Order: sequence, then structure tokens, then C-alpha cells
Amino acid sequence: MKIGVLASGSGSNLQAILDGCAAGRIPAQVAAVICNLPGAKALERAREAGVPALLLPHRQFASREDYDRELIATLQRHGVDLVCLAGFMRLITPVLLRAFENKILNIHPSLLPAFPGMHAVRQALEAGVRVSGCTVHVVDEGTDTGPILIQAAVPVLEGDTEDSLAARILKQEHRCYPRALSLWAQGRVRIEGRRVRIAGAPAGGDAAISSPGLAD
Ligand code: GRF
Repeated sequence: MKIGVLASGSGSNLQAILDGCAAGRIPAQVAAVICNLPGAKALERAREAGVPALLLPHRQFASREDYDRELIATLQRHGVDLVCLAGFMRLITPVLLRAFENKILNIHPSLLPAFPGMHAVRQALEAGVRVSGCTVHVVDEGTDTGPILIQAAVPVLEGDTEDSLAARILKQEHRCYPRALSLWAQGRVRIEGRRVRIAGAPAGGDAAISSPGLAD
């Protein structure tokens, strides 16, 4: 399986994916990393791993659709089967969704469907939830609304700030994304309407990840 990663920033999830592939935990290969912003650390991480690191600045395109058409051509040129959004700060259009139907994954820093959108961690704090977390889901036309593949729960602690909670969630993201990709690459993931079925999962145990600090 060939993975294409789209990123805009630090790329720590990309790193977790690269490490998982290199260690054989994900039976797949990252075939290309595409960034829309110059100077993104994700590009550096890709180069260090010997993976094609491609800068595709969105400002050069007249419309989101034009940009997505270029993304599709680039992904196809690198033989990508599965697209991973990993901190990609662009809305993607139906043009890209159609070209990779049910083959685009995203990671989001909340337990969806709670707190979709840009400020998930802040909104979780403001809502006073005791548990938040992260979600790997299949991308559809909505904002963070697609079928859920894997989630990890993370406790919200008394003294938490947006930064401290985001950092605790990020650690779990680094477990969830590689796990999701491993299941995908093994052919164990089947999408049935809103639900994702994972073949051979012990009562769902592969898709719900526990993290330290949650009370029994
Ligand atoms: C993560 O918090 C992810 O949930 C969100 O964007 C952030 C990306 O972080 N979609 P990184 O670039 O992988 O470090």
C-alpha cells in the first residue's frame, strides 16, 4: 500500500507514520508528502526519511478545485492508494473526494462527533468535558463528519490549558494514526454506511485505544 500524506505544519503525525512504516508496524510505504506551506517541518521530516517531499503552494491556484486537481495528479503520479491528512490546513473539495472515494483519512483532536472544526481542544475545555481524545476517520464532504475508524480517550486534568491538553492528545494521535493505517493496510477495514467494521477485532478492542490517567 502506498500512502500519500498531506500536511501543513510540524508533521509529528507524519513522523509517527514514517516511523511505523520503517519499523514494519504499518505494512505500507509513504510514497509522497505534500505540503501547501513553504517551510513546514513536515517537508524536512519527509526528506530525512528519504520520501519525496513536495511543496504545492495553494496561492498559485485560482480555485480550491484547481488546487485539488493538481493534488490528484501528484498523488496519482506517485501511485498513492490512500491519502492521509495530517494537520493539512486546507478544506478539500468534492473533486479530491471523488478521485479517492473512501480513501482519505484524517486525524482530529477530539472524540468526534464532539467538537469538529478548527478549535477542538479549546472547545473541549470550554465545555468542561472530563474526557476528550482523538479520532481517525474517513473523510467525507462534511467537516470532520466521516465514518470513525479509531479513537483514543484522553483525560482532561484540573490545571489543563489548551496547550497542555493538546499535547496530551497529540501523544495518543501518534498511536492512533499508525494503528489505523496498519489495520487498513492489512485489509481489515470495511466501511458500511456510517460505520467502519474492523475484521478480526476482538470485540472492537483494536479500535478503542486507552490512555493513562483515565479512572477505571
Ligand atoms: C493535530 O493536532 C491533528 O489532530 C490536527 O492537526 C494537528 C497536526 O499536528 N488535525 P502535526 O502537524 O501532525 O504535528
